[in-house]
Amino acid sequence: MKFFDVFSRWQIEPVSAKGCKIYDKEGNEYLDFYGGHAVISIGHSHPKYTKRISEQVANIGFYSNSVLIPLQDEYAEKLGKASGYPDYSLFMVNSGAEANENALKLASFHNNRKKIISFSGSFHGRTAAAIKVTDIPKYWAPINDDLEVVFLPWGDIEKVKDSLKNRDISAVIIEGIQGIGGIIVPENSFLQELSKACKETETILILDEIQSGYGRTGKFFAHQYANISPDIITIAKGMGNGFPVSGMLISPEFKIIPEQLGTTFGGNHLACAAALAVLEVMEEESLIDNATKVGNYLMKELKQFSQIKEVRGRGLMIGMEFSEPIKPLRDKLLFEQKVFTGATGKNIFRLLPPLCITKEDADEFLSRFKTIL
Ligand SMILES: Cc1ncc(COP(=O)(O)O)c(C=O)c1O
Repeated sequence: MKFFDVFSRWQIEPVSAKGCKIYDKEGNEYLDFYGGHAVISIGHSHPKYTKRISEQVANIGFYSNSVLIPLQDEYAEKLGKASGYPDYSLFMVNSGAEANENALKLASFHNNRKKIISFSGSFHGRTAAAIKVTDIPKYWAPINDDLEVVFLPWGDIEKVKDSLKNRDISAVIIEGIQGIGGIIVPENSFLQELSKACKETETILILDEIQSGYGRTGKFFAHQYANISPDIITIAKGMGNGFPVSGMLISPEFKIIPEQLGTTFGGNHLACAAALAVLEVMEEESLIDNATKVGNYLMKELKQFSQIKEVRGRGLMIGMEFSEPIKPLRDKLLFEQKVFTGATGKNIFRLLPPLCITKEDADEFLSRFKTIL
């Protein structure tokens, strides 16, 4: 059997990784400023993480949600404290798209409405509802036609208010910082007015923090810069540091209705062990403060490069926009300088390194970057 390979791949085969370094089978060392698409949070192969997962799988790796799994309560409690949402509840699933899918469904169950508002440039995943609220029509299949989604211009609060006034919108879904859209940071005032307009019309506000959350921007969630409390917050990526785990934080306004949601794998023993290890390491190593410190330094230094049209972002979620296509630069960085970076569109680099990078790693990146400009 062949792999159904829809991906365009680099001809590189990583065989091991440690911290923010990756090693390929030829023995080359790479600096990881991509984190496998913002997934690696505490660093590759962290000893506490590998120990906790190894010990858990040696005891019990999985049993379904038909039994007691106290690790779920332990993790929910720890996450509530770490994120600043101790009175919210946690539902766990396995991928970012699945978290958004469940969030959209829960909103619709709650207010019995059908339409969704999303924004230009958004990306929310590939499942049925998640892909339909993603502003990339070529990813929609004919079976996705039925969900009614209103796409509004990013940041246009008047259009939002106008669309909400009939009180027939179930939910508004928005990223904490748009990732695939190009590292676009929302204005605090926009998020505040959006939150207020949703409350006034009993519309559910879903904050997709799958890429921007879990400490990446220097706060646990990017929307916390605007001091708002969404009804549902979705998380994935950095939550498991590579272990496939995701979830949604659900405000106390939602009642639990048995069997309304469900999952086989979500919240299994191994997933909880991985997620707990990530939170413990984040706390012990003050990785959120580190994201602010090293992120601010990197952005300040990058702004000195006249070749870059604009540097934007928060913490360690950084976009560098060029006036011309970046493919030649990105290839040079990877194949000559041995640095992994992310990209979006034709002209934008995305830097999404592990949150544990040091100032020395940042300097190393800057020096290799300078070489190829
Ligand atoms: C903001 C955002 N939401 C959702 C997703 C989908 O996550 P997954 O690929 O785990 O389904 C992504 C993935 O890149 C994302 O960046």
